Amino acid sequence: MLNWLVTGGAGFIGSNFIQYILSTRSDINIINFDLLTYAGNLNNLKTVENDPRYTFVQGDICDRQFVDAVLRDYAINTIVHFAAESHVDRSILGPMQFVKTNVIGTATLLDAARDYWSACSAPLVGIRRFHHISTDEVFGSLKPGEPAWTEDSPYAPNSPYAASKAGSDHLVRAYGHTYGMPVSISNCSNNYGPFQFPEKLIPLVTLNALNGKALPVYGDGQQIRDWLYVEDHCEAITRIITDGRPGETYNIGGNNQPANLEIVRTICRLLDEMVSASKYRPHESLITFVQDRPGHDRRYAMDSGKLRQELGWAPRYSLEEGLRKTVRWYLDHQEWVEQITDRTNYQDWMQKNYDKRGGTVK
Ligand code: NAD
Ligand code: TYD
Repeated sequence: MLNWLVTGGAGFIGSNFIQYILSTRSDINIINFDLLTYAGNLNNLKTVENDPRYTFVQGDICDRQFVDAVLRDYAINTIVHFAAESHVDRSILGPMQFVKTNVIGTATLLDAARDYWSACSAPLVGIRRFHHISTDEVFGSLKPGEPAWTEDSPYAPNSPYAASKAGSDHLVRAYGHTYGMPVSISNCSNNYGPFQFPEKLIPLVTLNALNGKALPVYGDGQQIRDWLYVEDHCEAITRIITDGRPGETYNIGGNNQPANLEIVRTICRLLDEMVSASKYRPHESLITFVQDRPGHDRRYAMDSGKLRQELGWAPRYSLEEGLRKTVRWYLDHQEWVEQITDRTNYQDWMQKNYDKRGGTVK
């Protein structure tokens, strides 16, 4: 058996990834290492909590002694590093936590893995891998007509979130280059799907619309993201870890580039259809333009050609299919939703981020 440490496995993508691995592979034990911040949620993992191949440990990736102990106690072969602060708006209002978790946390994990793997008798290369999950946001913002980013595009992060992820990417690369550690990095575009924390655009709009609340669209709503259904991301990561070349970076994207306003309108249309008795139909009437995000990136687009050519990956879900599945999932998981939205820390965030923007969300 291989022992994979998944950091941040109680978050959105990490929990989808753990479920994906346990349902598609029988040769892997998963150790989920998560601090359970506001974004971590063990309710995301109900389907696997009794699986003998799954273990949860609560801890902080910045805590070196604890990381050392977990690597040793579970004889970790592979690290899949998701743990991070992940929301751009929170990074604008509180950047230091992003530097701590994303930069110091990644450095701590890398250094612990280097020490642990070099103390093991087998050579450093082989089945070992440190795979770092990163974002397209490290590349900055594209102008209309500019080509999609490749792995060779220069880094130009604009938000504190993107800058902290860029810092962590550089550390991963440097540990590979200097110490010969078997690292890989994937930079992925915006994900959406089940279990996404309802502070991000797609779940936020879905839930606000269901409850007849304003749908806050930042600025003119013409910003473009490259949306990818989360299961497609999980498949891409698995291929990179299993068959990708150590030392390499891979871009992952969905090649879907509608503007935010169009995404919001599509969600409204899906809800009009799925909740045909709703008193809030047409849900589009809830759209509210609010003050823009400072430094808001205009356009992201990823060229996934390398991943397609080297590893045969392509997304399986179209945006329409993925959005339909996602909206259906939120409709069918009201209990999961309420367990988050009933918390005062969620309500405090909504107030802090939206009250001064001019629109109303309550
Ligand atoms: P998320 O915010 O939903 O989850 C983050 C998880 O990390 C939570 O479970 C949290 O408890 C945990 N965590 C935070 N600080 C920790 C610490 N100090 N120690 C241990 N655990 C800690 O994030 P997500 O959307 O699932 O993103 C996961 C990763 O993917 C991040 O690295 C993010 O940068 C990257 N990414 C996200 C997207 C996206 O669209 N969501 C796109 C590309 C890349
Ligand atoms: P988000 O889901 O926060 O992801 P990211 O900032 O990492 O791309 O936002 C996606 C897009 O939607 C982004 O352009 C900001 C915009 N947005 C809104 O217009 N309104 C909102 O309430 C939120 C949360 C985001």
